[in-house]
Parts: sequence; structure tokens; C-alpha cells
Amino acid sequence: MLSANMVVLAYLVASVLIILALKGLSSPESSRRGNTFGMVGLFIAVVVTLQLSTVQNYAWIFTAIAVGGLIGAITAKKVPMTHMPQTVAFMHALVGLAAVLIAVSAFANPVGYGIADASGSLHVASRIELFLGTFIGAITLTASLISFGKLHGTLSGSSVTFTGQHLLNLLLGIVMIGAGVMFCIEPSWTPFLIMLGIAMLLGVLLIIPIGGADMPVIVSMLNSYSGWAAAGIGFTLGNNMLIIAGALVGSSGAILSYIMCKAMNRSLFNVLLGGFGGDTPTASAAGTRTDRPFKSGAAEDAAFLLKNARSVVIVPGYGLAVARAQHALKEVVDILMGQGVQVKFAIHPVAGRMPGHMNVLLAEADVPYDIVHEMDEINPEFSDTDVVLVIGANDVTNPSAKTDPTSPIYGMPILDVSKSAHVLIIKRSLSVGYAGLDNDLFYMDKTMMIFDDAKKACESLIQVLD
Ligand code: TAP
Repeated sequence: MLSANMVVLAYLVASVLIILALKGLSSPESSRRGNTFGMVGLFIAVVVTLQLSTVQNYAWIFTAIAVGGLIGAITAKKVPMTHMPQTVAFMHALVGLAAVLIAVSAFANPVGYGIADASGSLHVASRIELFLGTFIGAITLTASLISFGKLHGTLSGSSVTFTGQHLLNLLLGIVMIGAGVMFCIEPSWTPFLIMLGIAMLLGVLLIIPIGGADMPVIVSMLNSYSGWAAAGIGFTLGNNMLIIAGALVGSSGAILSYIMCKAMNRSLFNVLLGGFGGDTPTASAAGTRTDRPFKSGAAEDAAFLLKNARSVVIVPGYGLAVARAQHALKEVVDILMGQGVQVKFAIHPVAGRMPGHMNVLLAEADVPYDIVHEMDEINPEFSDTDVVLVIGANDVTNPSAKTDPTSPIYGMPILDVSKSAHVLIIKRSLSVGYAGLDNDLFYMDKTMMIFDDAKKACESLIQVLD
């Protein structure tokens, strides 16, 4: 068994490895290394924890590791990339459930957990920790389950709203905190269970008004909640490693949510209150202005422009993911680069439907990292670009975000594609994107629409360019 100092040191090493993992995961180039750091860090943390004198029953622990590990391995192999958001939501639910179960068992046996004095009375600090851990865990559990249902299509993705919803949430929040305070003053099952029940209800009520397509921001927010729930468990169990790892997950999830909200020009406060997405106009409500003149062409026309260009910037969006066109697009890129054209990719932070969606697709197709550029990096280059190829993207290129103060996306940073000499847009129709808005880019003189499925359009380009 390791001495207390050695345990602290090992946990410190594991914590540093987890910080390095987060750092590594911030860029596609270093993400594999980041994953390895994370795995080694967690392995050290688990092994050190297992040898602590407080661990008494290895049979249960190893059975749980075997069953959980098997389910995790099968799930990881089977889940398609497009189902990742709901899988992550489900995993957050499990973290929330773990926090609630540990809080229940710690309160049932405080002496066993070392959180009571000799008379069996709970330490005051432990009461507060149990209160925080339980309600954050319970909200994370039910909110994540509803998110899973919406993302997976088991529940309707549409927003469910009713009059007085925010007031009800506020009242429930006050009663929950009141029960928590009562529990901290005089711990007993009644305030504990009231607090737990209301927190579970709040988790449901906070998520039902949110439209299905807006779930990614919520999943990232729940990622943060699950981190705080884990940190709460860490306090209950007196485990520093869990507190550090939980706090890291909690804060990185919150930062990611903030970045996503900023890139979508939404307020984080609005997301936290759970009123998000309900007011997003739908495609049919906003409609398209097909009466405006636009130019359209075929793959041959696009190929002519592309192969005669000096520089081409490709803007991928949600449609690329839907069509699974990344491999065909990579072939187009290889042909163009082989013909001496300089090709770059421009990635908007919220292109697609989940953080890093486009980066993952391009990495899957082996697109070299050095030609993939983030928005801030590539925006100054558009004015010096011959052809921009927008493929399955819409909102992230919409100039109204800059020019029309009445637009719902006004203020959202966009890729300045209209500054280039020519714009080619591959999509199936003039239909709107996620935000439900018409796009002035489609009707510009320099724009040519190629109406086709993204994959089919790329396959046609390959044939014509080759
Ligand atoms: P969108 O604005 O949603 O546009 C995607 C376009 O793809 C659609 O207009 C659609 O037009 C086209 N499309 C669909 N299937 C296609 C196919 N098979 N082949 C070719 N085109 C196809 O996508 P975007 O530009 O990537 O912007 C993302 C939007 O999602 C933003 O509004 C963002 O705020 C929102 N959002 C993003 C996130 C994250 S974290 N990424 C999270 C929540 C919301 P057609 O139907 O005419 O083909």
C-alpha cells in the first residue's frame, strides 16, 4: 500500500496528465496524444484509488469495471459518428446518477464514509457537500436523459413551452434550495428526498423548452454540470483526484458552452435558464425568396472555375456531414492540388451540429491539418481568394449576420466568403439552414449555385476534373 504522501504525489501526476489531455484535445493535430495522456492519467488515478485502505470489496469493483468496460467498448465500436451527441448525453446521465447514488449511500451510512462524528452526526461541511452533489447530480441525470431522448428521436425534438414556465422553475428552485438549507441545519430523509425529487423535476423542466437542433450547446452545458457533480462526489468521498478532475471537466464544459454561444450570438445566461432555441424560426416560417434572380450551373461549370483558380477555399457545413461527402471531397482536393491549385479549408466554430463536427469529418477523410484553418485565421484571406467552394454550409456564410440588424443571427461572426472573386455553392436547393433564414449570398452576381447532393456533386467534379 502506498504512503499518504505517495498517494498525493500520484494524484498530482494524474491531474497534470488530465490537464495535458485537455490541452492536447484542443487541436486535431495533438488530440491523439491528448487522449493517451488522459488514459494514462485515469489509469494511474484508478490504480492508486483501488489500493487505498478504504476499499474493502474488490469483487464488486472488478465486476462493475468488467461490465461497464464491456458495455463501453461495444458502444464505442458501434455508435456512428452522427450519434455521438446523444451518446455523450447518455454518459452525462450516468455521471449524474453516480453522484445521486453516492450521496444517498453516504447519507444512509455517514460513519462508513467517514463524514460523521462519533455520535453519528454529519459534519456541517459534509451536509453542504451532500446537498450540492445531490442536486447538481439529479439535475444532470434527468436533463441528460431528456437531451438523449430528444437527440435520439425517442422524444419529440420540438420545444415544449407553457405560460409561467420560468416562474415555475424559479419557485421550484427556491423550494429545492429551502429543502437543502433545512437538510444542512437538521439532516433527515424528508428534506433530502424533497430536494432530490425537485432537482429531478427541474432537470426535465429546464430541457423541454429547448428545440432539438439546439441540443449541442445544452450537451456541452450538461458536460459542465456532470463535471461539477463528479467534483461533488469527490468532496463526499474525500478524494482530491475526483475533485480536480471534476472541476476541470466542469470548467472546460462551461468554457466550451460559452464559446459556442458566442459563435452563435446567443447568451449563456439564456441557455442556463433553459429557454434556448424555442424562438428559432423554422424553415417553413421564414421561407425562401425564390423570386430573386440567381445563377446556377453544373459540375462542368464549377470544375472550369476551380481548375483555373490560383487559390480555392472550401467552406464545409452541415450538408457535408448529412451527405457523408468528406471522402469524395478529399478526392476533389487531391486532384486540384495535383493540378497546382492552392486549396485551404475554412472552418466556422459552429459549422455542423456539434463542436468540432467539421474537423472530425475532415480528419476522417485524412485531410492534412495544415490546410484546415479556423475562421479568424482565414477571414482576412478571402479578399485574395479566387474561388470559394461552399459545400452544404449556409448560416455560417450568411452576410445578413453583418448587414441586417433585424436578422436573428445579426452579430454572429461569419466566414467572409463574399469577399472572394467567385463563390460556388453546392446544396440541393435554395432552402434555409438551421437558423431558418434566406441567404443573400445565393443571389450575388459572383455566386453560382450547384444544386445537388454534396456527395453526388463531388463525384461529378471528380469525373470532370480528372
Ligand atoms: P446550416 O446553416 O444548417 O445549412 C446546412 C445546409 O446544408 C442546408 O441549407 C441544406 O440545404 C444543406 N444540405 C443538407 N443536406 C445536404 C446534402 N445532402 N447535400 C448538400 N447540401 C445539403 O449549416 P451550417 O452552415 O453548417 O451552420 C450550422 C448551423 O447550425 C448554424 O446556424 C449554427 O448556429 C447551428 N448550430 C451549430 C451547432 C454546433 S456546435 N456546430 C450547434 C447547434 C446549432 P439544402 O436543403 O438546400 O440542401
